[in-house]
Amino acid sequence: MTNVKIAPVKAPLRYTITAALPYANGPLHIGHIAGAYLPADIHARILRLRGKEVLFVCGSDEHGAAITMRAMKEGTTPRAIVDKYHALMHKAFVDFGIQFDIYHRTSSDLHKETSQAFFLELEKKGVFTRQEEQQYYDPEAKQFLADRYIMGTCPVCANPDAYGDQCEKCGSALSPKELKDPRSTLSGATPILKPTTHWFLPMERSQEWMSEWINTGMLDGVQQHDPTEWKPQVLGQCNSWFKEGLRPRAMTRDLDWGVPVPLPNAEGKALYVWLDAPIGYISATKQWALDHHGDWEKWWKADDTRLVQFIGKDNIVFHCIIFPMLLKLHGGFILPQNVPANEFLNLEGQKISTSRNWAVWLHEYLERWPNRQDEMRYALATILPEFKDSEFTWKDFQDKNNTELVAIIGNFVNRVFVLCHKYYAGLAPEPEGHIEQDAALWAELELLPAKVAADSDRFRFREALANAMQVARLGNKYLTDTEPWKLEKTNDAATRTVLYNGLRICGMLSVVLDPFLPHTAAKLRAMLGLTDPVWDDALRPDLIKPGMPLGKAEHLFKPITEEEIAAEVDRLKATGPGDQVAVGDPSKEKLVSNVKPLVFESPIVEPKPVITFDDFTKLDLRIGTIATAERVPKADKLLKLTVEVGEASPRTVVSGIAEHFNPEELPGKQVLLLCNLEPRKMRGVESQGMVLMAEDAMGKLAFVQPDRELPNGVEVR
Ligand code: 2FM
Ligand code: ZN
Repeated sequence: MTNVKIAPVKAPLRYTITAALPYANGPLHIGHIAGAYLPADIHARILRLRGKEVLFVCGSDEHGAAITMRAMKEGTTPRAIVDKYHALMHKAFVDFGIQFDIYHRTSSDLHKETSQAFFLELEKKGVFTRQEEQQYYDPEAKQFLADRYIMGTCPVCANPDAYGDQCEKCGSALSPKELKDPRSTLSGATPILKPTTHWFLPMERSQEWMSEWINTGMLDGVQQHDPTEWKPQVLGQCNSWFKEGLRPRAMTRDLDWGVPVPLPNAEGKALYVWLDAPIGYISATKQWALDHHGDWEKWWKADDTRLVQFIGKDNIVFHCIIFPMLLKLHGGFILPQNVPANEFLNLEGQKISTSRNWAVWLHEYLERWPNRQDEMRYALATILPEFKDSEFTWKDFQDKNNTELVAIIGNFVNRVFVLCHKYYAGLAPEPEGHIEQDAALWAELELLPAKVAADSDRFRFREALANAMQVARLGNKYLTDTEPWKLEKTNDAATRTVLYNGLRICGMLSVVLDPFLPHTAAKLRAMLGLTDPVWDDALRPDLIKPGMPLGKAEHLFKPITEEEIAAEVDRLKATGPGDQVAVGDPSKEKLVSNVKPLVFESPIVEPKPVITFDDFTKLDLRIGTIATAERVPKADKLLKLTVEVGEASPRTVVSGIAEHFNPEELPGKQVLLLCNLEPRKMRGVESQGMVLMAEDAMGKLAFVQPDRELPNGVEVR
């Protein structure tokens, strides 16, 4: 297929974006989020900001064995299960800022009607074959065993716990008869074979056009998509199916939980969940149209609509082969223009496992970290498993927060706002002329919004985020290069220009970060007095009006402590299993992160727990003067000081400041000394106190000194 010439695809007018309907059989975890929902949400948000007409649909997949098995485990009914988990998942999505236009349910009447009508149309067109065949049956539970009702050894990877429809280990789609050593999931019994009749989709009849459509984008002589835009692993999985040869697949099941087959003589039969579930995207759209007096058909039938379906890799065959085949055979529907499937996310070196509780559950995260949605959105967006499995660790979550969100975005915005409040009473300054650095700054900034948009169009969300972050990085560099806090003393006009540009960059950030960090971007816009963003605002020269009042200089992020992270790891290890499944070397994945940590001059200090006045009075703080200073042999960081604090003899203090000060410059300096810190031996020298130092975000140290010379030993209270 290498020499295929790609004709241009018709330019889309509107975008139907779907994210896999999660089974309503358990809570969502961060693997689900990184797999489909976060990339889909970022994509939809970017398109909406760019003024495109977008419909983003999702909902709960409420049929199939996934639900009935869960009901059995919880000793309740399938209805109770789907009601419980639909509500839980929907709330978690909303709280996390996944902005669906509709979150529907496949147990709704509208879905039942829609999927039955779809089935009947296929039946009318003669698409199905009806076949009686021998199927596995559990004589104890008195039930036919399809899909997840039957387990056995995977013929592809030898996983002993493969299901009748799929092996979750290697992703292969299976049929029950392919399993080795099959067993009933219901009773554990060895199944027997018994005849039953079902409606089959003879997939082999569509293989030729299907393979051509996927690999060349051509369908009925029209270029539908550009296959070079499809992820290689998606094409690869489809082609391995074609290589094996497509085979007939049953589209009905002997089950009482599901959409009933709408035909006479089909009692006790339901539509196969993988027939009914993707039709759920269509019924969700219909419900949205009913709710908004809109038209559902243009989202699924107009050939200038671009249908993009976000899924995890275990759903590839259903979305790339079976669903498009059904849409085409039904007629009148467009086919997906891309199915950007993600690989899997691992957690702390192990595969995420629902059954073994090795997971970070989204609703629990939201409870434990209220209002910290964007911190998790950011951490996940930087490690999305776009082309290979990736790994989430709490340490990385902390690092991304502290060295990127706090140090890059938070610090930049804070510095601009603090200085505008200090110099211009909280009003945006009037710029005057240009300074030397401006041309280079804007030449780089001007490219970034288009880069972010193009990355998103190519489903490269990690790159898109890196480009959005580049705006903040350039902003920080600009401040560091121009030093408005010094410039202000000598050049008022240039300082106003620098800080006005700083505000413009804040405005730009409030747009380009919005798809990734919507809560933060909204806060930032509130600080700037901006509302209703559009993508073009990012570079609008008059977005910031001189003289406009600015909000308080809030910290957009706060540092995450070691203790907070240790608590998360402990929680995971306490509830998770001992027999985890390790994954390949995850350290490689970390190298892929292209967002470099930076540090700047005004750190954001994390508040410490409140202490009482009594606690404070326990500190013996005194003014002292350094008498002597010398290096401690074989210790690069240590200086041995003697400090006069009004006692008979000076105190010896060992201080970790050797990389910051030459010993010669220190004698005579007044310092603040904590005198009653427990004495401690360092490199054989006993330290009898601690010189207090201030440290900026670049790690530079400064002495804390009285503003006039004081006698040694003066108490500080
Ligand atoms: O894998 C899953 O969680 C399925 N419930 C996805 C269904 S996607 C669509 F077809 F509805
Ligand atoms: Zn397998």
